[in-house]
Amino acid sequence: MIPTSIARGGRKAMVSPDAFRDGMRRLAAAVTVVTCREEGGRNGLTATAVMSLTADPPRLAVAVNRSASAFGQLQRAGSFAVNVLREDQVALAARFCGPIKGEARFESGSWSSLSTGAPVLEDAQAVFDCVIERCVEAGTHAVLFGAVQAVRFSSDPQPLLYLDGDWAGLVRLPREAGAVG
Ligand SMILES: Cc1cc2nc3c(=O)[nH]c(=O)nc-3n(C[C@H](O)[C@H](O)[C@H](O)COP(=O)(O)O)c2cc1C
Repeated sequence: MIPTSIARGGRKAMVSPDAFRDGMRRLAAAVTVVTCREEGGRNGLTATAVMSLTADPPRLAVAVNRSASAFGQLQRAGSFAVNVLREDQVALAARFCGPIKGEARFESGSWSSLSTGAPVLEDAQAVFDCVIERCVEAGTHAVLFGAVQAVRFSSDPQPLLYLDGDWAGLVRLPREAGAVG
């Protein structure tokens, strides 16, 4: 049977953490800010470990370090929002992984809410407002499964990416480069 939760240090690693990180630095990723709101206030973190799970029902997953200051609040809130950043929102991305913590992170940007009350960024290029269906621990991290309650997106996406330790933007290839699907 494949286990449903993963303990820290269970199986002997054949690959060093540094080699793994170096490999993962080649995986360009869209940058998001994952946010939550509970009685203690708002919090959030910059996150790239976000993936689409199923379209029907709409569901996504986010991997959050259990030592992140927002982790306890995410669990207590039972909901979160994924705010997909535009390439001109580097300062926000840096703010949500920097020394400013908690509520003060929201002093920059224009924030509102949709269905769950989790903070959503007015000019994000997409926001997914989610109720947490399940939380699966995986060593240092936990994977939060979110049932999407509301979605909002803008036209003309210009995503902020993270690649090889740097912020990056996207250059679209001409259609002739290969048809999609
Ligand atoms: C580009 C980038 C992507 C990140 N992705 C994640 C992620 O997916 N999950 C995570 O837990 N932390 C991620 N982090 C780290 C957190 O944003 C960072 O540790 C944050 O400061 C933790 O929150 P705290 O400062 O409130 O403890 C990422 C950081 C950067 C710069």
